Amino acid sequence: MKNGLEDVVAAETSLSDVDGAAGRLIIKGKSLDELVGNTTYEDVAALLLNGMFDKPITALPLRAALGQARLAVFSHLAAVDDTLLALPPVDAMRALLARLPDGEDFATAVRLLAAPAVLLPGLLRLRNGHAPLAPNADHTQAQDILAMLTGTPPSAEQVAALDAYLVTISDHGLNASTFAARVIASTQAGLTSSVLAAISALKGPLHGGAPGPVLDMLDDIETPDAARAWIDSALDRGDRLMGFGHRVYRVRDPRADALKKALRPLVATGQVDVEKVALAEAVERAALEILKERKPDRPLDVNVEFYTALLLDVLGFPREAFTGVFAIGRTVGWIAHAREQALEGRLIRPRSLYVGPLPQAA
Ligand code: ACO
Repeated sequence: MKNGLEDVVAAETSLSDVDGAAGRLIIKGKSLDELVGNTTYEDVAALLLNGMFDKPITALPLRAALGQARLAVFSHLAAVDDTLLALPPVDAMRALLARLPDGEDFATAVRLLAAPAVLLPGLLRLRNGHAPLAPNADHTQAQDILAMLTGTPPSAEQVAALDAYLVTISDHGLNASTFAARVIASTQAGLTSSVLAAISALKGPLHGGAPGPVLDMLDDIETPDAARAWIDSALDRGDRLMGFGHRVYRVRDPRADALKKALRPLVATGQVDVEKVALAEAVERAALEILKERKPDRPLDVNVEFYTALLLDVLGFPREAFTGVFAIGRTVGWIAHAREQALEGRLIRPRSLYVGPLPQAA
């Protein structure tokens, strides 16, 4: 038995491939490098979903459908009460998503792609005592998320950076949340149920819950000079460094570099605190040196969450919302996998090895 199912192949997919030795990610036949910076969220969503429903899916009609679906879902924010506002944003968002109808059709898929993009910014505004801002169906998904978050039109560089993020995290093999989505899909429960299960898996700190703590770490370290001592004492306590290590990658996570690159236009146009970027780079350098010294047998490198923290912070998302933003981007991967499972797979029902006591012989 493989603890944590490490290296176990549990599905065939034509959606994405994670090459952990080479540090390479392929999404539907295209390398991450090819996609990030050259495609929008809608482009990649269409790429992943085309072939999964009873009609061809292309980016422009999908963009229009998403716009209409964002408008339709906005009314759900009227149901937000103090109990929901007291929850972490990703939990409140999941509770609201649970009110959406279930189904396997394209309309259900579009609703699930649009809903988190409206609910998360609305919840964040309500938490700050402001009224949610209505979506604009003419916007792209990235543009609308930022406009609903801040109330001001985002710059072209900000929209491009969020698109780069959403594309980068759109799909990533059989990670824990995607596997959860496929297990639910294999029971034919419906896409909403798959997405709810996937969000529940994503929010853990070992998966999509890491970027908030990455920002906490950077804040705590404060200056590049303090990085080494901070990291050493964290590891002495037995803590893990958030934003480092990966189950599959044994080299640098290619998504980290894609996000680092996505920050550049924001730096060049003065939309980023350059000291924060310098601090992150210093922490990354120190962490890599120290991890190499202290864990020589386990190659540990930076993962997607490290630069996610910096990018989402720069774009104005509060750290408690980072996991929710991850869910906005990954929902398309979950839906594509859930459909692939429903179309081509069987009920997922592995076995366990019983190691408990046996009944006493009479
Ligand atoms: N910091 C310090 N040590 C680490 C880290 C880390 N971030 N990650 C792994 N290790 C060490 C472990 O302590 C262990 O060392 P040991 O053998 O001396 O006990 C060794 O590396 C192997 O650890 P495992 O737990 O077997 O590795 P696994 O493949 O299960 O872990 C994981 C992958 C969960 C991502 C891990 O690297 C981790 O906890 N990272 C921090 C959290 C994080 O950044 N999560 C986001 C991942 S990306 C994503 O899901 C989107």
